[in-house]
Amino acid sequence: MTELEFAQKVNDAGGTAYLVGGAVRDKFRGVTAHDRDYCVTGINEKKIAKAFPNIFNVGKSFPVFLLNIDGKHCEVALARTEKKVGSGYRGFSVKFDSSVTIEQDLFRRDTTINAMAIDILRDELIDPFGGREDVANKKIRAVSKHFMDDPVRALRAARQSAQFNFEITEETLTAMNLCAFELKDEPGERIFAELKNALKTDKPSIFFRSLERAGILEITFPEIANLRGKTQPVEFHPEGDAYEHTLQILDEVSKINPKPEIRFAALAHDFGKGKTPLEMLPHHYQHEMRGLDVLQEMAQRINLPADWKKIASFVISEHMRAAVMTRPGKIVDFLVRLHNSKISADDFNDIINLDNHGLPPFLANAEKILTEILKVSGRDAPPELQGEQIGNWIRKERIKALIKLKFLPDSKIEDEVFE
Ligand code: CTP
Repeated sequence: MTELEFAQKVNDAGGTAYLVGGAVRDKFRGVTAHDRDYCVTGINEKKIAKAFPNIFNVGKSFPVFLLNIDGKHCEVALARTEKKVGSGYRGFSVKFDSSVTIEQDLFRRDTTINAMAIDILRDELIDPFGGREDVANKKIRAVSKHFMDDPVRALRAARQSAQFNFEITEETLTAMNLCAFELKDEPGERIFAELKNALKTDKPSIFFRSLERAGILEITFPEIANLRGKTQPVEFHPEGDAYEHTLQILDEVSKINPKPEIRFAALAHDFGKGKTPLEMLPHHYQHEMRGLDVLQEMAQRINLPADWKKIASFVISEHMRAAVMTRPGKIVDFLVRLHNSKISADDFNDIINLDNHGLPPFLANAEKILTEILKVSGRDAPPELQGEQIGNWIRKERIKALIKLKFLPDSKIEDEVFE
């Protein structure tokens, strides 16, 4: 069924079909939307089911149907109004009968750029809140005070700002600020979902800076807020404090690496600097250890996926020593740890290269070295060796293999090779 056939059928059943949300916004941004959502007015659930016998309701608290339109599974919702009756995103009473108009449905939405509809048959834009102008002027603006009904919209607005490089209006920043109280009780999954979306944008720092401007960074991501004012030695960090450094590394890594879990690890690499005792500043001795504690707290709060946590833990604990190792034994041990971790050498290097302003040859060639040293296995050990002796033999043979590859400065190979 084509989009037009769908709209015609809805029309024949006595209703009107609209394209809504991101697809309309993206049309005016001049980009292809990744999905197309529809809203239907003037008919009830029964009539929809009659007009489309294969339709299938996936909504829990209100009807949302899945329909195959233009070869894709698309969401078709009945127009609805929402009324806040309690706290959080579940505290709504929803009305969705055939009397709800498209304007009422658009009114319940978060930002003006997302609150436009196109009447498909008439090819007519419904834009009661100036969404098209806001797209043209690159503005993120709350539709109404109902923005605050769902506190996670504060994160959505910050994410939209990063996603489209649009500016959030002053009133919207105030509305975001007023979400603070309820945000504290939002489920971690919802916070994580928006963080993940933000990390997929071209310049994720905009997300955190927007939350800061709205005065809700402490509540949403205290581990990032704590980096503010944590000074660092100027000779190594002309960019400023640990907050500026972290956001800079995050954006730089995002330019070269699309994976949100790697971008998250870049965000987390200096978490420990937020806990540096004030008398120690501008130095941050042992911030790797403190960083792991910060990550642990955050992971619990926002239900961080296990893989994300493992990757970030590895980067936090290894980022300081990885680039400055010189002893072959330590390098072999590290490369084996890297191999057994959840992060690839290339992804790890994307972060370290930017944080350290370059990579030592053994790191830049980590994959090549690993291919060689992992060829050494216990099966080749002399038969008289047992238990721990086999482990020691493997390690020594790997060190020899590493030295042969000549990625280390010669002077270091002579002394303490096996430490
Ligand atoms: N919406 C909302 N408030 C929310 C979530 C969604 O008002 N908390 C509305 C917005 O109008 C949004 C639409 O529902 O455009 C669809 O939401 P979603 O699928 O999350 O879309 P977007 O985040 O806008 O992203 P895209 O449209 O690009 O998929």
